[in-house]
Amino acid sequence: MALLGVNIDHVATVRQARRTDEPDPVWAAVEAELGGADGITFHLREDRRHISDRDARLLKETVAVKLNMEMASDDAIVAIAVGLRPDQCTLVPERREELTTEGGLDVVRYQTRVGTAVARLREAGIVVSAFIEPIAEQVQASADIGFQAVELWTGAYAHAKTTAEREEALTLLRDAIVEGRRLGLEVHAGHGLTYRNIAPVAALPGFSEFNIGHSIVSRAVFVGIREAVREMKELLVRHAPSPPP
Ligand code: PXP
Repeated sequence: MALLGVNIDHVATVRQARRTDEPDPVWAAVEAELGGADGITFHLREDRRHISDRDARLLKETVAVKLNMEMASDDAIVAIAVGLRPDQCTLVPERREELTTEGGLDVVRYQTRVGTAVARLREAGIVVSAFIEPIAEQVQASADIGFQAVELWTGAYAHAKTTAEREEALTLLRDAIVEGRRLGLEVHAGHGLTYRNIAPVAALPGFSEFNIGHSIVSRAVFVGIREAVREMKELLVRHAPSPPP
């Protein structure tokens, strides 16, 4: 059964709207765990627009399930990750002007810089995952550089306007899963996944982790984090591919 990693960044976004101390993303992580989250994901951005260094420190101390830190591959953030030692680091592209992570990391183009970050993180005993678009060359380059996992960007699927576009995006995901597994990588998925669109992605065989944030935090405003996580977990279980005979 694939793991559900709950991204709690947007709890911190609400806090930062007033630069106050509530709501606390660390409390959100506790609630998410109580709702059945298998992992907690956070993105320590260079501009610290939501998650802060204090949040990262406290999450490391308190989270009992898998802790996944999303981050850029620049030296200062890598140094923080090496000191913090989350269970997993997911390397993502990062631009200050973006609303959220847009598209995957171009591992083919930035092999040298990304490779240095991967080596430093792996030396610290951290599992390293590459957030990439579902393209065979990106999967291959990720394996070559030393990533142990890839997280496939599901944005093209989530933003598809027509059934044909959606089907095409699912085919690309399916092919990239096969390629990743063939190369011995764990294959994760994330970005834009919601209660309404998760079923076909959850049904693809080969994903071992889903990282979902905005949709869960949005529902949590109305039903609470524990219930929102429970409902997403239920969907993942209901639509999971059947195990091979
Ligand atoms: N995975 C990665 C690597 C991301 O950067 C994000 C967005 O922060 C997510 C998953 C979660 O995306 P969403 O908030 O759209 O569920």
